[in-house]
Parts: sequence; structure tokens; C-alpha cells
Amino acid sequence: MDLYDVMRRTFAAREFTADPLPDDVLFTILDHARFAPSGGNRQGWRVIVVRDQRTKETLAALSGIAAKRYAAQVQLGENPWNTIVPTAADATTIERTLAPARLTEPIARAPVVLVICVDLRVVASMDQDLDRVGIVSGASIYPFAWNILLAARHEGFAGTITTLAVAQEGKVQELLGLPSYVAVCSVMPLGRPVRDLTRLRRTPVGDFAVRERWGGTPFTAPGG
Ligand SMILES: Cc1cc2nc3c(=O)[nH]c(=O)nc-3n(C[C@H](O)[C@H](O)[C@H](O)COP(=O)(O)O)c2cc1C
Repeated sequence: MDLYDVMRRTFAAREFTADPLPDDVLFTILDHARFAPSGGNRQGWRVIVVRDQRTKETLAALSGIAAKRYAAQVQLGENPWNTIVPTAADATTIERTLAPARLTEPIARAPVVLVICVDLRVVASMDQDLDRVGIVSGASIYPFAWNILLAARHEGFAGTITTLAVAQEGKVQELLGLPSYVAVCSVMPLGRPVRDLTRLRRTPVGDFAVRERWGGTPFTAPGG
């Protein structure tokens, strides 16, 4: 597939066929994904390849805890797990809300699940002293995660960056024997997708890019 096609068609796959994702294909995917950028080229990524069914089910269950709050907030019309706008969902409402199966089952059902981690001892976090949630650290790991999905797409496989399990990071660290300085970044189910989505819903460039400063004129297609 042409690069632009891969970029436009790498969707979040959550349903997989019974096909295996063999180790040799997975190796090829990781062997290409490792050319991702990271701050100072420190390459702090670490990957745990999970095929054990019980481990997958535990990761799915751990994701389900954050999924309850996610779903409760969606039902209230909120942006879930946001740090700027406080939630109106109380603990009882969250506890009563069921974790949507689409957020947990892909992790239990995928032929392979990658737990993508980063060694925080090598990550430069330029925003660590700002009074807001950290963003910059993620830039040393998520380009790598995205490269995995692009390469998987190229190989006829697909998956999803999921982050719900990160809310239970201590339990994931315990489950997989991760040291405390290794952060969990994504639990990524991968497999052969049951369907091939090619038209992803995304806002047009003019809706998010402006000229010169915030509130500037939209950056639209020249001559458009
Ligand atoms: C940082 C990040 C976290 C995400 N977390 C989850 C998750 O926990 N569970 C899940 O099912 N999808 C998760 N997604 C996938 C998004 O829902 C998906 O990328 C988005 O809905 C677009 O889907 P599409 O490419 O199929 O249109 C996450 C994506 C990103 C980039």
C-alpha cells in the first residue's frame, strides 16, 4: 500500500479473525517500528509480547476498571478522563456503570497483545514543571506505538492503541514483573481484522490548522 493510503486507512481494529499473528511477522513489524523517533534518540521503548490467555484476560479485566468511568462520562456527554473539565460522575455512578465489552474484549480475544512500555530513566520530560498534565514524555513512545500499527497494516494485520489499563499501572507492573521506573504506555491487541475500514472520520485541515496565531484564518487547501 502507498504510504498515504496506509496513513489514511490505519483504523482502530477491535475485532479479529481466528488467524494467528506468527512470531516472524510480529518480528518484522517490530523491526520496522523501531525506526520511530524518541527524545535524544534514547529509544526507551520496551515491549512485552503476551500470548498467554490468562495474562490477556487479566489485562482486559484491568482495562475494565477505567472503562467504567470512561463509559459513565460518555453517558453524561463528557470528554472522559479529561484533566481540564472536572467530571460530574460520582463514585457510585461509576461503580454501577458497566465496562463496554468493546473496550475490554479485544484484549482478551486478540491472538497477541503487546504491552508497550517506556523506561522513564531515559525520557526527557520538558513539561515536567508546568502546571498541567504531562504531554512531552509520551512523544518518546507513541510514535513507536503508531509505527507498530502502520507496519501491522502493511502486513495485513491491525490493532488498537489502548490506554485504559494504564490507570491500573501498578497492577500491570506486578502482573508482568516490570520495574517501577518502567511506565505502561499501551496495551495493544493485534490480529487479522474481521473488516477493513478505509474511510476514517477525521476533521478537515481547515478545522484545526490556522495561519500565524490562535484564532487566525483557517489553513485551507490553496485555491480551495
Ligand atoms: C492515546 C490513545 C488512547 C486510546 N485508548 C483506547 C482504549 O483504551 N481503548 C480503545 O478501544 N481504543 C483506544 N484508542 C483508540 C481510539 O479510540 C481510536 O484511535 C479512535 O477512536 C479513532 O478510531 P479509527 O481510527 O478507527 O477511526 C486510543 C487511541 C489513542 C491515540
